[in-house]
Amino acid sequence: MENTLAYSQAQDQADILKDFRHRFHLPKRENGKPWLYFTGNSLGLQPKSAEVYLSEEMQKWAELGVEGHFRGDFPWLDYHKHFKPALAYLTGSNENEVTPMGSLSANLHFLLASFYKPQGRRNKILLEAHAFPSDQYVLETQARFHQLDPNVVVIELMPRPGEHTLRTEDIVQKINELGEDLALVMLGGVNYYTGQVFDIQAITQAAHQVGAYAGFDLAHAIGNVPLALHTWEVDFAAWCSYKYLNSSPGGIGGIYVHQKHHPHNQMPRLAGWWGYEEATRFKMQKGFKPITDVDAWQLSNVPILLLAVHRASLEIFMEAKMENLRAKSKKLTAFLAFVIQDIAHKTDYPIEILTPANPAERGCQLSLWVVKSGKKLFQLLQEAGVMADWREPDVIRVAPVPLYNTFEEVYVFGEALQKGIARL
Ligand SMILES: Cc1ncc(COP(=O)(O)O)c(C=O)c1O
Repeated sequence: MENTLAYSQAQDQADILKDFRHRFHLPKRENGKPWLYFTGNSLGLQPKSAEVYLSEEMQKWAELGVEGHFRGDFPWLDYHKHFKPALAYLTGSNENEVTPMGSLSANLHFLLASFYKPQGRRNKILLEAHAFPSDQYVLETQARFHQLDPNVVVIELMPRPGEHTLRTEDIVQKINELGEDLALVMLGGVNYYTGQVFDIQAITQAAHQVGAYAGFDLAHAIGNVPLALHTWEVDFAAWCSYKYLNSSPGGIGGIYVHQKHHPHNQMPRLAGWWGYEEATRFKMQKGFKPITDVDAWQLSNVPILLLAVHRASLEIFMEAKMENLRAKSKKLTAFLAFVIQDIAHKTDYPIEILTPANPAERGCQLSLWVVKSGKKLFQLLQEAGVMADWREPDVIRVAPVPLYNTFEEVYVFGEALQKGIARL
């Protein structure tokens, strides 16, 4: 690699995904130039086709009213079912194991109603330290809901002293140590702060060996790294769609439940009518009869307008294909790391990349630890047109996304970084 404009432009020329950038609205600065948008890990960009799909549903609503549930190409009654192939593709699952629904934190609670069943000494939950706060609150209040003390039952695993990320061997060892006390392992598939990709398969296997369930928050993983939830035998997972999946702020979430849990209709759950056996749902009878697949976990009829936007983005993913996105992402992230290290070296400014250097253990995001006037540096980057994000106390997260970011943007980011450091 070379930290030069010519090298970056040559990479863009050779990029088979380069045209996908034009399928998105690129947010612009006051001077009319597009931002160097490196926050697709926080909020993905708007696909231009989203408005088209959204207006189709608005029009259907205007013209058909309630009849829209039954008429048109995508009747609302079954609208969510059209998403199963793409969600199965992105998560590496079977279609009967995934469904779009609700929102991430709420979905985690609904899934935990089934998968966190503390019994006697088997009541512990293993979580990574510094998990996204919502996950911490979800688990804290789940413990309280079961009249347990979260300080006792929620075990947060810290990296080794002097390290920023967790080693798989340490996670597995902790699982084995907890043994029969462990009810559940729940981690982020990719940690939001460090960008570390966890070894979901190894962790799931270890959890199962001690008789615990394994579930994952895939907010930062879906659409970012390849997943094979079914083969890895993950018990459950949930995600949001507004990050790498570009499906609007607060957009529709989604869930996965391994099919081995589907026939267990006696599983405890918090139910709603959209999880009820379809053939008799509209008889409106007493007594909940669950659908026999993941749809049993659905509660409410689906928000069609959010799904319309989701549809636009998922179609783009199906076209671009995860293997192409992942291949570009590895190169783009490696180039970003190279540029940052080159500039840190040239300027003698201390930047440590917290995200693992091993490409298998990271996705699009690099988390930069900037202890020397980091906030000021972040502001200087912003003034230079870089949209990244700041995480207290001293981390800048930068996420080049293969669907719409370019190698040239990474090069220009490097220039802005060098100028920013010079001004500090
Ligand atoms: C890892 C992770 N978990 C949970 C959440 C909370 O998501 P929601 O507000 O959609 O419930 C987020 C939001 O950014 C997140 O990044």
